[in-house]
Amino acid sequence: MKKNITVISGDGIGPEVIAQAVRVLNAVAQRFHHEFNYTYCLMGAVAIEQTGNPLPDETIEVCLESDAILFGAVGHPKFDNDPAAKMRPEQGLLKLRKSLQLFANIRPVNTYSVLHHLSPLKEKQLEGVDFIIFRELTGGIYFGKKELIEDGTKAIDESVYTVNEIERIAHIAFKNAQLRKKKLTLVDKANVLETSRLWRRVVQKIAEEYSDVTVDYMFVDNAAMQIILNPKQFDVILTENMFGDIISDEASVLSGSIGMLPSASYGVCTALFEPIHGSYPQAAGKDIANPIGSILSVAMMLDYFQMHEEAARVRQGVTWTLQNKFVTKDIDPINFYFTTTVGELISDYVINKITDEINHENIELRKSTII
Ligand code: IPM
Ligand code: MG
Repeated sequence: MKKNITVISGDGIGPEVIAQAVRVLNAVAQRFHHEFNYTYCLMGAVAIEQTGNPLPDETIEVCLESDAILFGAVGHPKFDNDPAAKMRPEQGLLKLRKSLQLFANIRPVNTYSVLHHLSPLKEKQLEGVDFIIFRELTGGIYFGKKELIEDGTKAIDESVYTVNEIERIAHIAFKNAQLRKKKLTLVDKANVLETSRLWRRVVQKIAEEYSDVTVDYMFVDNAAMQIILNPKQFDVILTENMFGDIISDEASVLSGSIGMLPSASYGVCTALFEPIHGSYPQAAGKDIANPIGSILSVAMMLDYFQMHEEAARVRQGVTWTLQNKFVTKDIDPINFYFTTTVGELISDYVINKITDEINHENIELRKSTII
């Protein structure tokens, strides 16, 4: 199969992790005889620097014409520490989400037994954790009217949701629940927020169409606690934009590192695949970032292309590196391997270059000596 992929590496560690994700895609192309063509586009701080615009029109045009988008991260401390900045790298991502109407952001959360010791939670709470967050991505407080009153003493962020915005993601989440453990939890703040009450009303109504799915409702403050106390209770979580942002970072703690989690964003046109982590500027250029979130995002992209065998192969490669402790610094700060080494090992696995008699000595040479 032939696919055209837009690659937006972005800022910070984005280019490093995306380079490894592309390497894995190339390995998939080689092994399964596909052709993947890449067009690299700008977004974020790097785009502001080069074009004066966090999302140049050309990037949107290329995205619209491609089969999928692979994205790294955006953000730069220069802007974070300057509340008066007129332009921000994140505006690029938000505008892209809105322009492509990427309204459904899907963030699967699983744990790997070899990484259980890294989580602050007890092992018995982590075994078998497997849930998926459906985060609404183009509405709510992120996109409501924003205002800073002129004298700087008052600021407003409006949160707006329409029935249609809730319905379209709710249907996707319910359909997914039907393929899983048939349980859906709506996370909201319906005891306080009008928008949350609308979410509840709409979801209660839609639930009638999916009688095989058990639905429960949880306030977001309680959900934040339950994700830590008893994460196994969740199957599909459906929530609005801001709550989804917050609880997905929290949920990543279960997996051992935020560097592990992938995501997919679907809308009405091209889908986008990105790790959930940010640009992690402190690690940029050091070859220490974890590429697995990006590589698992590639697996989600392959599933979207209906290349399920290919996606499974990539996931097996990830599991294999973890089981053999070929992990980056976030996972093991002493015995760690570089971003490029982990990417290379997963690619080698995909193309079957790694056999049982894998040459450990050679790999040891690529291990960090910085302690
Ligand atoms: C995410 C990120 C973004 C968000 C930022 C970079 C705008 O945190 O994708 O989770 O808040 O949605
Ligand atoms: Mg986030």
